[in-house]
Amino acid sequence: IANETPLKKMKDGLLSITSSEDAAGFDINKGESTVSIIVVGASGDLAKKKIFPALFALFYEDCLPKHFTVFGYARSKMTDPELRNMVSKTLTCRIDKRENCGEKMDQFLKRCFYNSGQYDSEENFAELAKKLKEHEGGRVSNRLFYLSIPPNIFIDAVRCASSSASSANGWTRVIVEKPFGRDSESSAALTRGLKQYLVEDQIFRIDHYLGKELVENLSVLRFANLIFEPLWSRQYIRNVQFIFSEDFGTEGRGGYFDHYGIIRDIMQNHLLQMLTLFAMETPVSLDAEDIRNEKVKVLRSMKPLQLGNVVVGQYKSHNKGGVTYSAYTDDKTVPKNSLTPTFAAAALFIDNARWDGVPFLMKAGKALHTKRAEIRVQFRDVPGNLYKRGFGMDLDRSTNELVIRVQPDEAIYLKINNKVPGLGMRLDRSNLNLHYAARYSKEIPDAYERLLLDAIEGERRLFIRSDELDAAWELFTPLLKELEEKKIIPEYYPYGSRGPVGAHYLAAKHNVQWG
Ligand code: NDP
Ligand code: BG6
Repeated sequence: IANETPLKKMKDGLLSITSSEDAAGFDINKGESTVSIIVVGASGDLAKKKIFPALFALFYEDCLPKHFTVFGYARSKMTDPELRNMVSKTLTCRIDKRENCGEKMDQFLKRCFYNSGQYDSEENFAELAKKLKEHEGGRVSNRLFYLSIPPNIFIDAVRCASSSASSANGWTRVIVEKPFGRDSESSAALTRGLKQYLVEDQIFRIDHYLGKELVENLSVLRFANLIFEPLWSRQYIRNVQFIFSEDFGTEGRGGYFDHYGIIRDIMQNHLLQMLTLFAMETPVSLDAEDIRNEKVKVLRSMKPLQLGNVVVGQYKSHNKGGVTYSAYTDDKTVPKNSLTPTFAAAALFIDNARWDGVPFLMKAGKALHTKRAEIRVQFRDVPGNLYKRGFGMDLDRSTNELVIRVQPDEAIYLKINNKVPGLGMRLDRSNLNLHYAARYSKEIPDAYERLLLDAIEGERRLFIRSDELDAAWELFTPLLKELEEKKIIPEYYPYGSRGPVGAHYLAAKHNVQWG
């Protein structure tokens, strides 16, 4: 697939990239160049739910280049008006609720087109290319393919896009959605397959958690505030927790989920990505490669997960208030005897000078009592604390805690011990609270908006590099194999509960209480 301008064909058929090419391809030619965003799998769930709405939001905010078009591509038969009709149902005016954005929607929809085709047909991709060319009107053509299709057809689609629809005079980039394989081997095979047709810099592997506002803010919090970074080590931090919970099951996605399970679906990517950003050393700069280098170092300083440090669970049916919530295995697409975990808790360790001995706990589950994603940092006791006893609270249980609530209701708050106002001396626990909804009136952009914009602009900071992916799989693959080979039976927990008690024993083993 052709890459950024200026083009330099190499012997192996791949095209070389220079660091200035993004600027050359996008900024300098702004106005002269076009960007075509091709949503491969446009008829699917992700396209409707996330990709088209995110593109509209970017258009609404004037973030898309002057000359852009959006092309849907899938096997389903659809005309341009039918695609527009489908897309229009997904668009909301969430950006500015006071405004009627109907006119903007119409302008956006006029830029949307459709080409029906098979994912393994070079001929069909050539038809797409012909239409793209017509719309590009002789300008420098930049093409962004978003693979919103099942992973087993990624390589076919990339091969066909590469041979028949890559840009002749601009850049071509491909966004790839997770899952990136099931283990080290399949992930490496996927990378090899992609690299037959693409160079690494053309591949934008999405982990949408990296596009979330509070995850992006992690580095700002750490590196732009004097007060946190000095505390950010084993000296002051007792443990760190990464918590993901959803209050609904895998309904409708059981087939996909049963092949992957919660460890692959959430822990190996979303929670691990947050962990690397949390724990990395200060990067040399904010450049994508500098940041990703530091993230890889964290992963390589960790030991693969041990079975003894992991608890797995699966939700069973539960009757609440006369309503029966189905068990995971009640889903018709899930085998009755499935042992796939819908919940997991794990303790991980980073063997470096900063984090030696500090437990990093992860907990992820479906069908739990609440929906939330959080990072919780529990600090050590105050040495020689004068207020340890007798002031109305047990300070043994009241160490400082910093909570980064990624969602919902984004917030950063620090739990402190405080004097209750009055003549006496009584302490209680209070929060220094940065509550986003109260502090910022602007709506927080969806993760996909940020990531799509970055991909268009060639900013790779929030995308996963292949060595990072390899290192992430190395940590989880032995455990995943052991769980499957030993047929470890998950601990069953009722739908809507707090999950298996085993998670509490695991935390207790490491002197931790879940927040
Ligand atoms: P879908 O199952 O909805 O598939 C997308 C499109 O691909 C379908 O509309 C269909 O289009 C085509 N397709 C589906 N199955 C096949 C098949 N067996 N062979 C050929 N084509 C097929 O997927 P999603 O939209 O849910 O997800 C897209 C990608 O994003 C996947 O890789 C998924 O794992 C990933 N993802 C999805 C998330 C979500 O919330 N949905 C979240 C995170 C990642 P047509 O029949 O018209 O060709
Ligand atoms: C996806 C997982 O990557 O993330 C889903 O495949 C999960 O199982 C989803 O529901 C959660 O994303 P968010 O942004 O809703 O927290």
